[in-house]
Amino acid sequence: ERRTGFPNVADTDYAGEDARKKAQSALKSVRQRLGKTYLPLINGEYQTTADIVDSVNPSNPSEVIGKIGLISVEQAEQALQAAKAAFPSWRKTPVRQRAGVLRKAAELMEQRRDELCAWVVLEVGKPLREADAEVSEAIDFCRYYADEVERLDQGHNYDIPGENNRYVYQPRGIAVVISPWNFPFAIATGMTVAALVAGNCTLLKPAEVSTVIAAKLAEILVDAGIPKGVFQYVPGKGSKVGAYMVNHPDVHLIAFTGSQEVGCRIFSDAATVQPGQKHLKRVIAEMGGKNALIVDESADLDQAVAGAVQSAFGYSGQKCSACSRVVVLEPVYDAFVERFVEATRSLNIGPAEAPSTQVGPVIDATARDRIREYIETGRQEAKVALEMSAPDTGYFIGPVIFKDVSPNAKIAQEEIFGPVVAVIPAKNFQEALDIANGTNYALTGGLYSRTPSHIEQASVDFEVGNLYINRTITGAIVSRQPFGGFKMSGVGSKAGGPDYLLQFLEPRTITENI
Ligand code: NAD
Ligand code: ALA
Repeated sequence: ERRTGFPNVADTDYAGEDARKKAQSALKSVRQRLGKTYLPLINGEYQTTADIVDSVNPSNPSEVIGKIGLISVEQAEQALQAAKAAFPSWRKTPVRQRAGVLRKAAELMEQRRDELCAWVVLEVGKPLREADAEVSEAIDFCRYYADEVERLDQGHNYDIPGENNRYVYQPRGIAVVISPWNFPFAIATGMTVAALVAGNCTLLKPAEVSTVIAAKLAEILVDAGIPKGVFQYVPGKGSKVGAYMVNHPDVHLIAFTGSQEVGCRIFSDAATVQPGQKHLKRVIAEMGGKNALIVDESADLDQAVAGAVQSAFGYSGQKCSACSRVVVLEPVYDAFVERFVEATRSLNIGPAEAPSTQVGPVIDATARDRIREYIETGRQEAKVALEMSAPDTGYFIGPVIFKDVSPNAKIAQEEIFGPVVAVIPAKNFQEALDIANGTNYALTGGLYSRTPSHIEQASVDFEVGNLYINRTITGAIVSRQPFGGFKMSGVGSKAGGPDYLLQFLEPRTITENI
């Protein structure tokens, strides 16, 4: 089928000296632009705000990346009214033209790739290679959803003699996109461009700590030709303006990615019909994970150890897809733990921008303190197999591995969102699967095994949205591994997959008696 041939953009090959030099010079040039003020874009105008806060570099919090204007509830209302006014014309804008804006945005992202990577590295402390993969994902989202909307726009014909039946899709109306900080460019882009290309007027409310990167996305969409009022960039406090927009009677759709707590809140708020509301809201909520890797007695341990290290400690464990539990069968348990600890010990911890860094900082002081509390809890619940030290300046936490963890321990059940892993022993494969499935989450999971019956059983019984066999469990690629979970990990179809855009559209049947 056509989609399997989707041409994903290539990541930068930093093995080349030229690429490394370009990355360093982009960092330098972005550094010269730090500390500027970024204002919300409402109805085509950058508006001043009463509230301005700093966004800082997690590797060095004294470095202010940008000053962020946060909107008030009154400004959120203005933006919603502007979106309402822009909708009649955007919904009738030909699909080809809407897709054209996304293709242009992708082109601009390619041109600005090194600069965008530098902003990601500095604002959220993501090491360069992972920042680069994020820019690739954003470019892919733009091109993939542009193709997808053109496919869906063909609709379907169910004609019979004497009766024409057309099945078509129309936009829903006003979409509010609420994005997280951990994939500040890719996820904000994915949800936003999906909503836009489907013909919805879209407001983007990014996470407070990654607002500068979202402002870069806003610049790109404006340069790509998005009309005023159709796209608006509305940074603000989630609990205040985020909640206001979710509850607003004129909003048709909320696309959210973030924590389980906030996702559940939004799901419930959106379900309440407000005075004057004439429709039920659609909610797409992609939430957290407590992802497990199973290592059985037939696994290639070299592969399993390398996969566990990368899945657990990439971006300091701050991925919804990250491995936070490794369930290991008893015959290989001791060998795995020893090798996992040794391999982790060799990781370089440091500022995200240093080329040698493999584990950077966590996002902020609140996250650092929360993770530290989990580490203290872990000490009571299990044995420390490894605890690495980390630099003092910046929000650093060294990787921690707990062993002999009980499947029901707090550190084996709750999303920690940091570089902390629980290794859990299992007597046999069925028990390993039961342990892996024994949380409220179902996002990613993995199996290292050379036993066909185990691979087959996991394919059926491992309750996760994205199952990876004999490889890492992070790093889904648009159209190749459509991404998303179920149970308490989310509600909605997979991002970067063939059903995703349907959520942003309303299907209609038109029958003509002829
Ligand atoms: P978060 O839930 O704290 O915040 C996400 C967004 O929600 C932010 O923009 C925030 O301002 C906003 N918000 C907060 N309260 C709100 C409210 N009452 N009403 C409306 N909006 C509100 O999440 P985070 O810390 O930014 O991101 C980390 C979480 O995201 C982790 O749990 C991670 O697993 C999850 N995540 C999931 C996926 C996925 O695809 N499933 C991808 C990335 C991150
Ligand atoms: N899509 C991201 C990953 O697969 C979250 O790691």
